[in-house]
Amino acid sequence: MTIAENKVYYVTTPIYYVNDVPHIGHAYTTVAADVVARYQRLKGREVFFLTGTDEHGQKIEKTAAARGMSARELVDEVVERFRHLWQVLNISNDDFIRTSEERHYRAVHAFFEKVRAAGKIYLGHYEDWYCVPCETFWTENQLHDGNCPECGRPAEKVKEESYFFAMSSYRQQLLDYIDEHDDFIMPKSKRNEILGFLREELRDLSISRCSFKWGIPVPDDPKHVIYVWFDALVNYLTAAGYPDDMERFNRLWPADVHLIGKDILRFHAVYWPTFLFAADLPLPRRVFAHGWWTVEGEKMSKSVGNVVDPEAVVAEYGVDGFRYFLLREVPFGLDGDFSREALKGRINSELANDLGNLLSRTVSMVKKYRGRKLPAADPDGEYYREFKLLNDEVLKAVDAAVADLAFNRMLTAIWRLVEKCNRFIDERAPWALARDESRARELDEVLYCVLESLRLLSCYLYPVMPEKAEQMALQLGQPAPMENPGAGLFAWGGLAPGESAKGRPLFPRLE
Ligand code: MSP
Repeated sequence: MTIAENKVYYVTTPIYYVNDVPHIGHAYTTVAADVVARYQRLKGREVFFLTGTDEHGQKIEKTAAARGMSARELVDEVVERFRHLWQVLNISNDDFIRTSEERHYRAVHAFFEKVRAAGKIYLGHYEDWYCVPCETFWTENQLHDGNCPECGRPAEKVKEESYFFAMSSYRQQLLDYIDEHDDFIMPKSKRNEILGFLREELRDLSISRCSFKWGIPVPDDPKHVIYVWFDALVNYLTAAGYPDDMERFNRLWPADVHLIGKDILRFHAVYWPTFLFAADLPLPRRVFAHGWWTVEGEKMSKSVGNVVDPEAVVAEYGVDGFRYFLLREVPFGLDGDFSREALKGRINSELANDLGNLLSRTVSMVKKYRGRKLPAADPDGEYYREFKLLNDEVLKAVDAAVADLAFNRMLTAIWRLVEKCNRFIDERAPWALARDESRARELDEVLYCVLESLRLLSCYLYPVMPEKAEQMALQLGQPAPMENPGAGLFAWGGLAPGESAKGRPLFPRLE
């Protein structure tokens, strides 16, 4: 895929409903998007990373009523919970969009008018079913015993005047597009799911409602409120500058990747592309649907009382351990299970034992054998060349894994370097070399290779564990990774002259 020289790398999360407080599922997508954004920035790319909140719709209106407040009061209250969580999780988003903002009204209106001008919106009557919790329309025979096929809760009968979007006219165009763009929908299993769905005719989509108020009115016909998904998806355009600043918009759009959960794939891989066809705008380059988390084997739900509060987990286990766990535990795209035991296990074995000990024993040896001074490189040395080759492989694997959003593969590739260093130290036994003055050069070479590997590890790990990566760099006497972004950062041999500085253990063992 070739990318225009000045194209900004644009990554998004879903915008979250503010009828409820954030949980581990929300944290998951946002951390993943943060890793992508940080990785691209570290490589020297200009990045635009967007997250935000979905604040309209019947569900929000109902929740507010049940709590005896206005919808505005509710969204203003809950949005702060999301903003706060993103701070706690160290999320580096460049913008935070709320669909109740002025700029978004303008964008939705402009978009609606564009699609209407294309002749793709018409007034009709909707008579079928609606699931409020899922904000989704269903036909009678899609229901399971009168309940929503998605969430199992009762659907309600809707009979009202409605604007429709002529989605049915885009089936073939969408099929052709998916066919020509192999990695538009990822992973493959999800692509197949959408192709399966498109085997049937598409129905036109009701895109307005008259029975409630909390939303963006249809231009010129304000008794209609625009369907919350038609409104929400446009957020990706609004934040890029549509329609106010089209110059900026053209540098940002199309988004490089929309990260979403599997439950909202159809909205992103069928509705959204057809809306964009109608508005004559390019499609996002990729839509990636990840799996869902259960908690200790059970579906997370308020009634079971097992909803995981990410802030509580961070308070107990630390932010970087949690971020690492989310991405390492489960291949992105598959379902996974969260448990405190599993989290603790990974922190103690992979982070404290493998990585933390490697750093602390190395820094101790540099202090003891070289009075803190980092040894210089010996590019002709055998170990140097061996490590260089390994790093070339790791770099390639990491790049490929990030391109595929395969975060667990990214981390396994990085761990090859951790494991190599630990083995290398045991085999080369620097403590023995230190006792023999004639082997001083070999000792320098051994220490250099491990130090340089650790510097690279701080760079590779920065997107996933930004705080710990900076602490690593500091203990190694190296600049923080983001001080020198660019591809050169990942080349073997970049260790700057300097002194190590012993710090606190990177990951203290959890009991
Ligand atoms: N507002 C819509 C998205 C609009 S995007 C234009 C929405 N919001 S949501 O708050 O209900 O869900 C947001 C995301 O959280 C979805 O991607 C969903 O998949 C994800 N998750 C909700 N529960 C989850 C788990 N248990 N595990 C992983 N992700 C989960 O949908």
